[in-house]
Amino acid sequence: MKFFADTAEIAEIRELAETGLLDGVTTNPSLIHKAGRNFLEVVAEIAEAVSGPVSAEVVALDYDGMMREADVLRQIADNIAVKVPLTEPGLKACKVLTGDGTMVNVTLCFSAAQALLAAKAGATFISPFVGRLDDVGLSGMELISDIRMIYDNYDYETQILVASVRSPMHVVEAAKIGADVMTAPPKIIGQLFKHPLTDAGLAAFLKDWEATGQRIG
Ligand code: E4P
Repeated sequence: MKFFADTAEIAEIRELAETGLLDGVTTNPSLIHKAGRNFLEVVAEIAEAVSGPVSAEVVALDYDGMMREADVLRQIADNIAVKVPLTEPGLKACKVLTGDGTMVNVTLCFSAAQALLAAKAGATFISPFVGRLDDVGLSGMELISDIRMIYDNYDYETQILVASVRSPMHVVEAAKIGADVMTAPPKIIGQLFKHPLTDAGLAAFLKDWEATGQRIG
């Protein structure tokens, strides 16, 4: 499973990249607002800091506007994935952009029908928002299972990018289903490393090691 960081904070991205476990980054207009940085500048910095796909989202709602913005975004770096919303103009743009060899992340997916359309439009990534579905009393993970089944039925190559991840359990459940990618805030990725028994076990080992009076090297 690929791990993307869902943030526009360059310091956090650099720190995660150093672990060697980071496969890409996703941003959205809210994350850009939170970072308080110039959109094009920060995306360029992120694209240089990681070698994997970096999603940068268009904000136009019409096809022509999306294509104009996509042109600006895809020129930033070769690893930019243009993010378009799951709307009719968005999927029309997706089809043309992927036909040109541009990576496209179709975002704001909340149903299996929408995911099917995105695959038909040749999307590189489909981003179902599991946390936001859970928030309204629906099952985000059920949607991931449905999309996995549909894509496998037809051998669609569109990668399922689980978004709106709110907990380590979302990551584990998505991995059990066979999602291709998950994107999560760095805080959640950090939580994946943790287990209280690891901490307790390490403390006990170190205490016993100290009692041997030995050193390594
Ligand atoms: C990523 O591509 C999405 O924009 C992001 O995961 C949305 O997460 P949120 O629902 O926590 O805002």
